[in-house]
Amino acid sequence: MDSSDDESGEEYLFKIVIIGDSAVGKSNLLTRYARNEFNLHSKATIGVEFQTQTLEIDGKEVKAQIWDTAGQERFRAVTSAYYRGAFGALVVYDISRRTTFDSIPRWLDELKTHSDTTVARMLVGNKCDLDNIRAVSVEEGKSLAESEGMFFMETSALDATNVNKAFEMVIREIY
Ligand code: GTP
Ligand code: MG
Repeated sequence: MDSSDDESGEEYLFKIVIIGDSAVGKSNLLTRYARNEFNLHSKATIGVEFQTQTLEIDGKEVKAQIWDTAGQERFRAVTSAYYRGAFGALVVYDISRRTTFDSIPRWLDELKTHSDTTVARMLVGNKCDLDNIRAVSVEEGKSLAESEGMFFMETSALDATNVNKAFEMVIREIY
């Protein structure tokens, strides 16, 4: 945690990273949370982007700096720098694409390798609006999360289901 003082008193800044395969909806989860925006035709992320979101917990101002990078290896920034100082992570798959769920253990390994502290982790099954073409059951998600000691939530960046909840659970857990 970076805690710094300014004129307004105490302030907390937490870094949170979003990871997962390309096109699972990481960038749209972030824009839905930070700006209440969704883009059906968003482009793959190149490098790193971040947004800062302020919320109030127990009367204190808490800032979450949320980092988003490319799922595709060739577009990714320096891995160690991306994870450095992170206190929370959203590890995302797409409930309509099995391969993105199969990649989760790899993402968890990478997170473990590069994080220097205990990280509050949430497994996120995104695109739950696509229930009609679901390829990963809720039970499978839950059970993986349980075995890894993570939180679990299914979300939809498209219709906003559970998006604020997912980010805020991680932020509260850190705080
Ligand atoms: P990379 O930047 O390449 O790693 O991809 P990403 O994980 O950031 O995915 P992105 O947010 O760009 O979304 C990929 C595609 O999925 C876009 O066409 C989005 O509109 C779509 N998408 C994202 N979230 C949802 C969702 O909750 N439901 C549905 N139906 N589509 C979504
Ligand atoms: Mg992206």
